[in-house]
Amino acid sequence: MDIAVDPIVTAPPGFFAEEVTWVHHWTESLFSFKCRRDPALRFTSGQFAMIGLVVAGKPLVRAYSMVSPAWEDHLEFLSIKVQDGPLTSRLQHIQVGERVLIGRKPVGTLITDNILPGRNLWMLATGTGLAPFMSLIRDPEVYDRYDRVIVAHTVREVKELAYRDYITGELRDHELLGEMVREKLIYAPAVTREPFPVQGRITTRLESGEAERQAGVETLDPAFDRVMICGSEAMNADVKTLLEARGFVEGTNHAPGSYALEKAFVTK
Ligand code: A2P
Repeated sequence: MDIAVDPIVTAPPGFFAEEVTWVHHWTESLFSFKCRRDPALRFTSGQFAMIGLVVAGKPLVRAYSMVSPAWEDHLEFLSIKVQDGPLTSRLQHIQVGERVLIGRKPVGTLITDNILPGRNLWMLATGTGLAPFMSLIRDPEVYDRYDRVIVAHTVREVKELAYRDYITGELRDHELLGEMVREKLIYAPAVTREPFPVQGRITTRLESGEAERQAGVETLDPAFDRVMICGSEAMNADVKTLLEARGFVEGTNHAPGSYALEKAFVTK
């Protein structure tokens, strides 16, 4: 595939053109980057926007959840790298100082308005599905609405546990959020394809009660607890079935419920 990317000078209609300020490669197939944020871009923590490049004179964009919270003055994203993917084969080479397209209209269902307040808020993520939860766990409103917030991130290999050091380190010492994080945030990572203290799919661990044991919290109960899901289509479908069998009701932008879900966008 040719890598020809047009330098972005002016933003096409519907987009901002923002300068990249930081790039971090987690693995050969996973990276993050930050860019500037136009003050006119409004979003709610947990939402996604169309992000991309200009290729052969046209915007080439995919849906990306914001990793950064709504109050931050920059934007951050987490992406896979697919070698034959039209966008990520190019985006993975992005350098500080180059520009990316940021869609002007973020949307999405993983927002606190779609979920009732409650006792424990579970954030179930696989792979890059962690992205919207990185935004939400840095939003004080989340901590106002729940006693505990559990980030259950499951990946195939340990090195894919992006942001692990940040969540267990820097975030706990954050000037504004640190106290809430130390009091309420429970990080529950798991790995499925190599040795790790907690192994197995989230569906299996919810069925056996191991997920609650790992987090040290009460058994998941729709009367008190809330769940947000962001993973592959198969993971979302399996968790949805499991939750609905237990009496959880999906929340939407029209009526809040006891769970909400969004696909972790495979941004080829
Ligand atoms: P597994 O290694 O057993 O397939 P992927 O990269 O395929 O999206 O997978 C990311 C993580 O999600 C892996 O740990 C994977 O486990 C897990 N996973 C994949 N499909 C499902 C599913 N239907 N339900 C629960 N977890 C899943």
